[in-house]
Amino acid sequence: MKGIILAGGTGSRLGPVTGAVSKQLLPVFDKPMIFYPLATLMMAGLRELLIITNPHDEEAFRRLLGDGSELGIRIDYAVQARPEGIAQALLISEEFLDGDAVALILGDNIFHGPGLGTRLAELREIDGAHLFAYRVADPSAYGVITFDDAGNPVAIVEKPQQPTSAYAIPGLYFYSNDAVKLARELTPSERGELEITDLNRAYLDQGRLQVTVLPRGTAWLDTGTTTTLVQAADFVRVVEERQGLKVGCPEEVAWRHGWLTDAELRSRADRYRNSEYGAYLNSLPDLPPEPGA
Ligand code: TTP
Repeated sequence: MKGIILAGGTGSRLGPVTGAVSKQLLPVFDKPMIFYPLATLMMAGLRELLIITNPHDEEAFRRLLGDGSELGIRIDYAVQARPEGIAQALLISEEFLDGDAVALILGDNIFHGPGLGTRLAELREIDGAHLFAYRVADPSAYGVITFDDAGNPVAIVEKPQQPTSAYAIPGLYFYSNDAVKLARELTPSERGELEITDLNRAYLDQGRLQVTVLPRGTAWLDTGTTTTLVQAADFVRVVEERQGLKVGCPEEVAWRHGWLTDAELRSRADRYRNSEYGAYLNSLPDLPPEPGA
């Protein structure tokens, strides 16, 4: 399985900030937004990743993350010429995927919770689509999923004015290797986008859609507006200051997987030696292991 981070889009709800900078490069407390979805895919054990950006932002992402080798992974880049929908990511990725299954994550989605990495890693063998459902107070801004009494998914609706359930679909989707083929059969919606909801519905109609409800102890945050961006930063800051451990630190994930040695981690830390982030990386090898781990 390979991973895609979709980091294009217009970011119009964050204007004027996004007038010159990609949304996914804005800071969420102590690191760029893209570090969080990147760390999530790495926690799932994925090491071959594609980052899709707007044409004029590609260079900045390359400066930040390079070819991934300093993170023990491989990162390729591709461009989305215009923001024509989340499902378009699959068409752009066809060559990169080369017939493999895929995990697609939105570059502005942050996940944090117990056992998330383990749970995601289990989805690497997949037939069909696997999505998540997350209870939110106001699901109307999202794709909303409805279940029958037995807990099976029965309907998916994009941004319903009157949601029929409280469960939104977060921006993390797992697909088997026929996703590109199904995406090719989609037609653009009224807003001119290839809708990920339509792709997910195609799997639902085929009876090949599985959904895991994320436990309420999981945090799923999106960062698309000024308010939710600040909320996400506050969340990360509270958890990090309380625990002394970082949320969404790709170097830490790589090191814990054994993809980076202590020396490689420290050399990465050196790049950020004047920041608290660098000090954190440098301190990781000296932390005592978790009891029982
Ligand atoms: P959105 O938040 O739906 O759109 P946006 O980022 O363009 O922001 P706004 O609504 O404020 O204009 O996108 C969710 C994520 O998916 C975000 O990380 C950007 C990404 N995206 C793309 O990369 N390409 C696309 O065509 C779309 C629709 C989204």
